Amino acid sequence: GKGNYRHFMEKELHEHPAVIGDTLRQYVDPATRAVARPALPFDPATLPRLWLSGCGSAFLVCNTARYWFETLARLPVDCDVASELRYRDPPLTEGGAAMFVSQSGETADNLAAMKLLRSGGQSLVSVVNVPESTMARESDTTLMTVAGPEISVASTKAFTAQLSVMACLAINFARARGAIDAAEEARLTAALLEVPEHAARLLDSSTEIEALAADIKDARDVLYLARGSLFPIAMEGALKLKELSYIHAEGYAAGEMKHGPIALIDSSVPVIALCPSGPLFEKTASNLQEAAARGGRIIAFTDEDGAPALRRFASRVMVLPKVDPFVAPILHAIPVQMLAYHVAVLKGTDVDQPRNLAKAVTVE
Ligand code: F6R
Repeated sequence: GKGNYRHFMEKELHEHPAVIGDTLRQYVDPATRAVARPALPFDPATLPRLWLSGCGSAFLVCNTARYWFETLARLPVDCDVASELRYRDPPLTEGGAAMFVSQSGETADNLAAMKLLRSGGQSLVSVVNVPESTMARESDTTLMTVAGPEISVASTKAFTAQLSVMACLAINFARARGAIDAAEEARLTAALLEVPEHAARLLDSSTEIEALAADIKDARDVLYLARGSLFPIAMEGALKLKELSYIHAEGYAAGEMKHGPIALIDSSVPVIALCPSGPLFEKTASNLQEAAARGGRIIAFTDEDGAPALRRFASRVMVLPKVDPFVAPILHAIPVQMLAYHVAVLKGTDVDQPRNLAKAVTVE
């Protein structure tokens, strides 16, 4: 049941810390701080190319993982929504592999994409939350997320569990490919192992998120902006807001603003930015300043180092724990999901069963 929570989604949001912790414990040895070598149908050291496929939020996990596999493991990655991949007939690299991310393991388009890549000779790995699912059965190897049953139609805890698995794999592949050493591996896994604690603290800050929700609940359009591995999390924020509150929202790479979306900006359009301190901070902050100069109301998620610069022009700044940029996507997923939840509650929509949506999309 829902226990003391109003909705399954609220309950499942509060399971983020436990689920991230449980998933990480499956993959990281806490004593050595090394990622245990996962049983894979390919050797990550020599893998020429990796495909990532998913739908909806799972696709956004694939997008985040692409940044990790590329920058950390120096592995070439292709990433697409399953409904496109299944009809693309792309040229496939011999000896290549594909990973299919799915909570249910039953999503029709992802199963069809899997079939296509199998016929192209790729080795198949599924990252699923349901061990007896079709996707688990039809892949060479299944890597489990340990999220437990997810009842709310909108995915929450499965999303951070999927990110946690992909982060562990990126570290493991980076090690296997000689792109990082044992010390760097230990540093990155330590950063991951701290995420549950940070997540718990974020869940305690719901009053602050509720204030942000009140700020955007009457907007017609909301833009979410970020760069790098946080860009897919901006898209996740927009997707969750759309499906739960029916407010039109888009996630954009911050650098794309001036190539079109900036034409939408006026004082009625909240701009939600994921902008922690780090190598891309100045670039994102300058895009936000341009939006603010055109009347955009900036709501920024950052950390204590990023806050002072953003406070000069943002209408609201929420300070998140300062973490290694590697784990920032997992952490930022939590407040953007919470924000969509609280907007939906304020609007009185059917939070656990948004209109027109199904938990598992088993038809094309
Ligand atoms: C978004 C959401 C959907 C699912 C998508 C894939 O909140 O829940 O976008 O992520 O339908 O479902 P699975 O992961 O079961 O393949």
